Amino acid sequence: MRPVVVATSPLPGPWLDSLSDAFEVRVVDPQDGRERFWPELSDADALIALLTVPVGEELFARAPRLKIVANYAVGVDNVDRAAAAARGILVTHTPGALTDATADAAMALLLALFRRVIEGDRLVRAGGYAGWKPDLLLGRDLKGKTLGIVGPGRIGKAVARRARAFGMTVIAFARSPRDPDDPDDPTRVSLDELWRRADVVSIHVPLTAETRHLVDDAAFSKMKPDAVLINTARGPIVDEMALCRALAEGRIGGAGLDVFENEPLIAPALLDDDRVVLYPHAASATLETRSEMARMVCEDVRRVLSGEPPRWPAPADRGTA
Ligand code: DGY
Repeated sequence: MRPVVVATSPLPGPWLDSLSDAFEVRVVDPQDGRERFWPELSDADALIALLTVPVGEELFARAPRLKIVANYAVGVDNVDRAAAAARGILVTHTPGALTDATADAAMALLLALFRRVIEGDRLVRAGGYAGWKPDLLLGRDLKGKTLGIVGPGRIGKAVARRARAFGMTVIAFARSPRDPDDPDDPTRVSLDELWRRADVVSIHVPLTAETRHLVDDAAFSKMKPDAVLINTARGPIVDEMALCRALAEGRIGGAGLDVFENEPLIAPALLDDDRVVLYPHAASATLETRSEMARMVCEDVRRVLSGEPPRWPAPADRGTA
């Protein structure tokens, strides 16, 4: 009998299909219902999971043969890694593959906000463009502004690099000290100083128990009233209700959001606010990136089911998110 690989979605590129040379590959969407999904796990040796699929004890109990969960994402907050480790199940992810795409998207959200691109698009389509005017859709320059990166890891540093090219000053908050040999690594400041100094706050930490609601009422109350928040990391890092309050009370200037606290639901107040640019968790959505992510998960599945160690093991659990 060939080892069984269950994938919770088709993936871009040829990689998933290519596993069929050695494995039985089944694509089963958990949203089709547990009655359909659970039985497919009973003889699964590998699971390729989307970030929208909660992977923990409940699933493991139905998958007694599982050896690897290859998460089609760099973030692994959907996977209970402690439970996986207790059962000897390896967890892998896709670090590096989506760094540039996500950093590009963070800049796209920032530029859209500062230059009011979405508002302009709406205005033109609604027939409201009556010719050039000195004060039509006045935005703000990036040059000379301060970007505060929360979590200067791979993606945070890629955003820092881009922001400097636009003439921004970059500061960052992290638990680790600045790497003096890495010119991309921004100067460290305390979180408190970052909230107070940044014209733009961009979030790049993983979702953990520690980072859940890191951006809360207290954080918004310290930010400049015209500061904007960019979140391409995970929705629950920002207290979405606190963000709505901060916008309503003019304590923050705007937000560019790729992720939301209760995806795919979005707080109605955000939908009605021109100071907010919304993106449907698509920061890594380029064909090249999503195909590379598929290559990485499939390579690790092949390696683990062939008795080799994975190339991209996920970091140890830093607390249930
Ligand atoms: C990830 O890989 O964690 C991203 O959120 C996918 O876009």
